[in-house]
Amino acid sequence: GADSISEELVKAIRTIPDYPKKGIIFRDITTLLGDARAFRRAVDALVQPWAGSKIDQVAGIEARGFILGGAVAHQLSAGFVPIRKKGKLPHETVRIAYSLEYGIDEMEMHKDAIKPGDRVILVDDLIATGGTAEAATRLLQRMGAEVIAACFIIDLPDLGGRAKIEALGVPVRTLAA
Ligand code: PRP
Ligand code: ADE
Repeated sequence: GADSISEELVKAIRTIPDYPKKGIIFRDITTLLGDARAFRRAVDALVQPWAGSKIDQVAGIEARGFILGGAVAHQLSAGFVPIRKKGKLPHETVRIAYSLEYGIDEMEMHKDAIKPGDRVILVDDLIATGGTAEAATRLLQRMGAEVIAACFIIDLPDLGGRAKIEALGVPVRTLAA
């Protein structure tokens, strides 16, 4: 039924209290990635709304969004755009600062990774405060992308991330809380 995928994914994800800081309940997806059935079901569920529609690029956020985003891009026959922590990309970049549940950072992507009008899906493992995905969405939109949706396996709804992305005109898809 509709609940079983979400239950299966929640069961496959390990929870670690007080990592990386006291008070943070960390959702560790490495256990899901190591479970062949759960990994496939998660990727299939993420892509399901766009099967058969034209998606030019899947943008994945370093680091966990790379693993899922690569699989999603393959399923949709789309390209993959890495959005990276600063200083890792070799060519000309666009950069944005952002805050997350346990700190601040800067992310960037290559200037030529997106063509104006590209239909792009943003992928990450989890949305908490939404600071990371909001920054990524703004970068993509700044380069002229049409961000069709932002997709995550896990939502931490108490942190209010979803509304930050929806405020940019981008629908949010999550599979479990
Ligand atoms: C985690 C997670 C998301 C982000 C969510 O990544 O994978 O990208 O935090 O938090 P937010 O919604 O509050 O912004 P992290 O920055 O820990 O990097 P990592 O994937 O390299 O471990
Ligand atoms: N990123 C931000 N908050 C997180 C959490 N609670 N677990 C895993 N990744 C996160």
